[in-house]
Amino acid sequence: MTHPVRTTALITGASSGIGAIYADRLARRGHDLILVARDPVRLTAVAEAATRHSVAVETIRADLADPADLRRIEARLREDPAITMLVNNAGIGTPPGLAGADPDALERMIKVNVTAPTRLATAAASAFAAAGRGTIVNISSVLALAPELFSGVYSGTKAFVLNLSLSMRNELAGRGVRVQAVLPGATRTAFWDSAGGSADALPAEMVMAAEEMVDAALAGLDAGEDVTIPSLPERADWDAFNAARAKLGPNLSRQHAAARYRSVDA
Ligand SMILES: NC(=O)c1ccc[n+]([C@@H]2O[C@H](COP(=O)([O-])OP(=O)(O)OC[C@H]3O[C@@H](n4cnc5c(N)ncnc54)[C@H](OP(=O)(O)O)[C@@H]3O)[C@@H](O)[C@H]2O)c1
Repeated sequence: MTHPVRTTALITGASSGIGAIYADRLARRGHDLILVARDPVRLTAVAEAATRHSVAVETIRADLADPADLRRIEARLREDPAITMLVNNAGIGTPPGLAGADPDALERMIKVNVTAPTRLATAAASAFAAAGRGTIVNISSVLALAPELFSGVYSGTKAFVLNLSLSMRNELAGRGVRVQAVLPGATRTAFWDSAGGSADALPAEMVMAAEEMVDAALAGLDAGEDVTIPSLPERADWDAFNAARAKLGPNLSRQHAAARYRSVDA
């Protein structure tokens, strides 16, 4: 008798919001799960709900801003051959504005939003490429494309995740490893507490339910997208944005400065 091959998805920030919905949806798809976050009570509740879909679920309590905890998760990604998917989801915000901001809070955000997903993606990329298969989902944000709208540091962390994803996708495409960046717009989760606001303060037509966001992101993954913007009605708009970026390409590095910058003294 043949047994279906078990595959495991590791989801960071799985104790609430978007990560908890990924846990539910990936369990429904038959993935065993490793759920990572700090809050053991909420993690256990998400795990118990996921086990109803007849999959194995393990929880790991880890603070991804803590180097020792982060390295434990990296080691698991490198050493556990059952893991075929990483959802790099954990992330936090800070209130907008740089003048008067708490620099320690900004640094912590950079650790969680940049350092942790970078180290985890590196571990997963190495293991998945060696195995010739795997999927890495990186949760960015539409604010990666709109630094003027919110905190520049938060936006910068999410632009980092988008750039990392696009570059990884290029590097890993021929090695059996899929990489998807997901750019949610405003999504109704506890994220807004850490960002010093409330999703309820936004017009209702701007805010998506986490369930709908994750279902759209998974539909984008199934469709083979490298970048998924769940709320964007026309895919062609993203393609046009990318085409404009590509058009700059041949002129971004040249031997001589553009004519408008040439000094009259030269
Ligand atoms: N909600 C939005 O409008 C929105 C829009 C665009 C992008 N996003 C992105 O979506 C992702 C998920 O956020 P969400 O909206 O689902 O918010 P959320 O409900 O606040 O979830 C954040 C998750 O990250 C975990 N987390 C936070 N700090 C952590 C740390 N130091 N170590 C380990 N885990 C940590 C939290 O768990 P513990 O507290 O238990 O550790 C929680 O499970 C984030 O990357 C966020 O930037 C959100």
